[in-house]
Amino acid sequence: MKRIVIFASGNGSNAQRIIEYFRGRNSARVVRIYCNNREAYVLKRAVQLKVPALLFDRNDFFHGSRVMNQLKQDMPHLIILAGFLWLIPESILSAFSGRIINIHPALLPGYGGKGMYGNRVHQAVLDAGDTESGITIHRVNEQYDAGEILFQAKCAVEPGDTPETLAARIHRLEYKYYPEIVERMLDEMG
Ligand code: GRF
Repeated sequence: MKRIVIFASGNGSNAQRIIEYFRGRNSARVVRIYCNNREAYVLKRAVQLKVPALLFDRNDFFHGSRVMNQLKQDMPHLIILAGFLWLIPESILSAFSGRIINIHPALLPGYGGKGMYGNRVHQAVLDAGDTESGITIHRVNEQYDAGEILFQAKCAVEPGDTPETLAARIHRLEYKYYPEIVERMLDEMG
């Protein structure tokens, strides 16, 4: 049984989807949610789904050892970012080299980088007049949204779309593909 941990800062619908996907299978388990925002709805989901959560602050993450110590205990095969808004420090990147992945709600390398999250991404796609958008699953490195692209899926931008309607279409792609790509990566690790 492989171990997964999920880093999330907000709503956590992808986190929930991944937790539930692997509950129906024997290949992997989500062993902990790591969260940097005490107001985040993902913490309520963690309680409901009976997944332990670690809440940490900026100082813990960038200067302390709480997060690294917990990761050493959890020994995840993969660290999954799902709506996590801080860069990952070098100490964690090097300890889990190549084993940290993120999902971005657009077709990178477009519409990524610092400050490009949530509806800002979808608004930028609409402002540009693009006819398609999608999702990108990529490895995490020391820059925002810049690591190796592992998977993309596309959807249409429809006339009359708002950031909210486009976000809903993109969330459906995320829910379908994020768990599957995670599973595939775990399989490939042997
Ligand atoms: C997703 O759209 C994901 O692509 C982005 O942040 C959003 C998180 O949504 N990185 P949720 O918290 O999983 O509902």
